[in-house]
This record gives sequence, C-alpha cells and structure tokens, in this order.
Amino acid sequence: MTDVGWGCLGGEGGKKSLGERIREVQRLRKTGNLPPVYPNGWFALIESRQVAVSQVVSVQAFGETMAVFRSADGEAHVTDAYCPHIGANMAVGGVVKGDCLECPFHGWLFRGSDGACVKIPYTNKAIPTNAKVKRWDSREMNGFVFVWHDAEGRPPQWELTKIPQVADGSWKYRGRTLHHILAHIQEIPENGADVAHLAHLHVPNILKGSDLRHIFAKSLLDLAKHSWNGEWQVRDAPESHTADLTVTHDLSILGGRFKVFNMTVKVEQIGPGVVHLHFNTSLGSGVLIQTVTPVEPLRQRVIHHFYSCRTFVAPYAKFCLLAEARHFERDIMVWNNKQFLNNPLLVAEDRFIKRFRRWYSQFYSEKSPKFTFQKDTLEW
Ligand code: FES
Ligand SMILES: [Fe+2]
Repeated sequence: MTDVGWGCLGGEGGKKSLGERIREVQRLRKTGNLPPVYPNGWFALIESRQVAVSQVVSVQAFGETMAVFRSADGEAHVTDAYCPHIGANMAVGGVVKGDCLECPFHGWLFRGSDGACVKIPYTNKAIPTNAKVKRWDSREMNGFVFVWHDAEGRPPQWELTKIPQVADGSWKYRGRTLHHILAHIQEIPENGADVAHLAHLHVPNILKGSDLRHIFAKSLLDLAKHSWNGEWQVRDAPESHTADLTVTHDLSILGGRFKVFNMTVKVEQIGPGVVHLHFNTSLGSGVLIQTVTPVEPLRQRVIHHFYSCRTFVAPYAKFCLLAEARHFERDIMVWNNKQFLNNPLLVAEDRFIKRFRRWYSQFYSEKSPKFTFQKDTLEW
C-alpha cells in the first residue's frame, strides 16, 4: 500500500513511519458524504491460481472473512471463514476432504455446496439442523473466483461474462498488477466516465512516471504526449448493469505532428467491481481485466490481469501492462488523498460523471452498509 500514491508524504522528517503518516492522513482526511460502502454485485475474491486443489485460503472482503477452498473435483467453494461451533477460522489450518472443509479446532465437517455440517466426529446425537456455515454464491471464470455480495441477501441478479479467448486459451496470460487504494469504491469506476481528466492527468507521457508532483514539470520528455478521447454510455436492459466506454489513444511526438502509436480501447464496466478493457492495436488484440474489491469501507484491492493474442508479443504486452499501471498510479495518488464530493461542481463537458453516478446507484439498496466514523474516539 505504501508503494504508490503517497509521494506527497515523503518530506516531513520526524520519527513517524510512512505507515503512521498514512494512517494520520486517513484519519484527518474529510471523507465527504459517502455513498454506501459495499455495493451489490459480483466481486473478485481471489485469483484462481491462488487456490490449488485441496487447498483452503482465508480472504477478506466487505469487512467479512471468508474461506475459499477447492474440492478434489476442482470446484472452488466460498463460505464464511468462522466456524459456527466455537468460531475458529476454518481457513487457517482447516483440511479439505472431498467437497467438504474440516474445521481445525474440533473436526466438524462442512459441505461446500450448501454449507451444511455433515459430520461431528465426537457425538452420537443427530447433527443439529442449524449447524451450517454461510455459503457465498460464487463463479469462477477469466482467472478469478468471484462472489456475489448483496445487502438484501438476494441471489445473483445478473451474470458475469466469460471472455472466450481467455477461456479457450487462445490469448496468453501476460502478467498482473495488484494495488491497495484508500478511497471509496465508486471513485475508481467513476474514472472511466470522467473523460475530461484523460486530457489532463494522463497527457504527460509515461516516462514522466506517476508522482503527480513531477509529471507536470516541463522537460524534454514532453516531446512525446498522450492524447485521449472518450465516450461513455449505459446499456439497455437486461444488460443495464453494464456501461461502455470507448477510448481512442494516440501517442505523438513533436507537438502532435507524428503519431507513433494509436490504439482503441473498448471498456466494459460490468457491475460495480469488474472491468474488461479490450485493446485493439496494429500489433493485435488483448484484454486487461480489472477487478475492484472493497476489503473495508475505504480500502479497495485492485487486480489487473493482462491477456493478449500471440502476435501481441510478450515484451510489448509487458510494456502495455506497465504503461497502464503508470497511468493508473496517477489516479491512485489522486484517490488516496481526495475527498468524495456528493455534489461536485460539474460543467457541461463533465456530463458523463452525472450519468455514471445515476447508473452506479443501482448497486446500492436499502440495507447497503453506510460508512460511520466516530471523530470523538478516532475509531472506524
Ligand atoms: S470451532 Fe470449528 S469445530 Fe469447533
Ligand atoms: Fe485515470
């Protein structure tokens, strides 16, 4: 978390560690009038490769702790981590047996498909009917295990989409990035609808880095510049959980006279926490999968996976992933330090932001948890 976005805290001196200073900024920062903190929808819980057959992993999301385990037949199951018996975390020392998870404390056995306790090793009595652990609806695709989070407890209201070239292996996996961001979740997808920031924050070329204190300083690197154009719109029902953004991107040198690179990106924002960025360049196509998962109210875990066709050679794919990360880290430095404005001062050209907020509000419902912050005790 301290890797990016906190450059502004570098020069204070004194005895405080960077971690302490980050916590202080978080405490003193005005949060603004925040929307609910955990939207309803599908969120990536873990990357597929992080949970092998017969392995169990403890993962945190939406302020909850969950056990993800993969049964012998390869299927991933997600349950609450805490055992309903006396509360052990079953993902810490639990053992996967067939399609069940055995708690390390007293050996109770829970079935992944429905969470029911199917064995209490030391009792002769019938298993109590309420001996059950909460099971989360999950789907595994595109390299991630996703869970459905819904404040009203409803079953999944829509489905995620498989990317055919990822599913059939015709596109190759080229790498990943992982970031933790201290901001409200809505700030991250709002970036797509905020087309005006592209023509400012993302213009200085990537060689100027991602530290906002330096990217705008004049230098020879300004001979190369990015230019962007974006159009954001919502899909009709039954796909109203998806919004589309089309971005055209040029990299030009010598004041825009020579275009050295041109690319079109079709961005699908699928629900509140998943984005597919489809790249089309002269060297071939690829997709960047972005997942945003709220770990706690103002902390998001963001993972990008990049896949590309074979002509889109590996070093070039790595360069694209790095370039994207550089641009993304500029946004992170803004997000980590900004206030959420419920009523931002928008001009006509910012109209997509308004539309985005109306669209995103469909992912909140009556029981969606709100952010609470007690200033007197300084506790979350
Ligand atoms: S706490 Fe899990 S079996 Fe007792
Ligand atoms: Fe951005």
